[in-house]
Amino acid sequence: MEFTAIKGFKDILPEEITYWQFLEKKARSILRRFCFSEIRTPLLEKTELFSRGIGQDTDIVSKEMYSLNDSKGRSLSLRPEATAAVVRAYIQNRLFEKKPVQKLFSIGPMFRHERPQKGRFRQFHQINVEIFGDPGPTSDADVIILARELFHAIGLKDLTLHLNTLGCPECRPRFKTLLNRYLDDKREDLCTDCKRRSETNPLRVFDCKVPGCRGIMEHAPSIVDSLCPACVVHFEALKEYLTLAEVSFTPDHRLVRGLDYYTRTTFEFQTEQLGAQNAVLGGGRYDGLMKLLGGPHCPAIGFATGMERIIALLKTVGPCREHPPELFVAALGEPAQKRSFTLIQQLREMGRVVEMDYGSRGLKAQLKYADRLGAKKVLMIGENELESGKVILRDMSSGMQEEMPLDDLVEKLGEAVPAHE
Ligand code: HAM
Repeated sequence: MEFTAIKGFKDILPEEITYWQFLEKKARSILRRFCFSEIRTPLLEKTELFSRGIGQDTDIVSKEMYSLNDSKGRSLSLRPEATAAVVRAYIQNRLFEKKPVQKLFSIGPMFRHERPQKGRFRQFHQINVEIFGDPGPTSDADVIILARELFHAIGLKDLTLHLNTLGCPECRPRFKTLLNRYLDDKREDLCTDCKRRSETNPLRVFDCKVPGCRGIMEHAPSIVDSLCPACVVHFEALKEYLTLAEVSFTPDHRLVRGLDYYTRTTFEFQTEQLGAQNAVLGGGRYDGLMKLLGGPHCPAIGFATGMERIIALLKTVGPCREHPPELFVAALGEPAQKRSFTLIQQLREMGRVVEMDYGSRGLKAQLKYADRLGAKKVLMIGENELESGKVILRDMSSGMQEEMPLDDLVEKLGEAVPAHE
């Protein structure tokens, strides 16, 4: 029997890991600047948390969850997104009692049983960001600016920010009625899913990718024309903050997003380089979710960005090399090997990135190996060097060699080889 990874699940190999580490490092550093703290929640939660939180009628809940029954017959699901789980943890641990406004992020795998394609996996990773306790619009602008900062820091500049508002429980029902009226004589021309959606939640029809439905929705009424005065003020103020911060955006009244918890602001950063899977980051405000899941009323806003999609874009920008050894020690003969083994441990303790050959290959083979690793310098130690008390350090790019005394070798190498950050 041949074992392979499950369809839609993929290994992240060492040659790719540098992109992941680069992205995580930049994200953590920016999140620290914006005063976010990390939270880690379990991968498995009660299914009802997601069906109630994300919405029974969404694709995620109706078709994409990995669910199982435990021995007591309780339905559990692998998390398809982080927001509902973070809100659950926030309520359960009464974090709302600690500070009025809290900014939390988490990084990790999510699971959705979608049809795998370019940029779409069944296990994928998100950097997920939430602000609890502020009604906006300043916090709305701040998370969008944070997203923009992240993309700039990693060198992705060609993403378009799509911005919309979905109104609130005050004005959205009015819009739904309008939309229903518009769809009344068009239902027969909608796809099967949208026929159902148009009955349960007509806004979902905006989200459909089927060309026929898209065509119909082109001429649908716009939510922006149905907003209540408070939602208008919120949206206008958000746009003003973004303009002040020189964040350009495209108003997009079709942007309803695939989860039911959103109120007011929704946004996505999109790319044209990943085919159908064009959303690199998506988020919005969800002022009603905390209460819906049994907590106090608590306005909130957040986003999640798909790490696989970002990395696919990073690869088009340029290579991200693994950190090569600063020093490779080529030892010849057992006494030199023992001496070198102690030496590399001492240098590593001093923060140097150092490697040696574990075997007992000849000098030529070891130099070739050092070259393949991309080592910047090579130290050569053999029997002759141990006898003479002098070793040779070679710079691999210039080919220049210098002699060093064996006696204070650790100190001298500490000066010649830079420390890893
Ligand atoms: P979402 O739009 O479902 O939002 O996902 C956010 C991002 O995750 C997408 O823009 C995409 O980059 C990535 N993504 C989603 N599905 C896949 C997949 N199958 N394969 C690869 N990447 C994928 C949420 O998850 C919300 N929880 C975001 C949020 C946080 N809203 C408020 N706070």
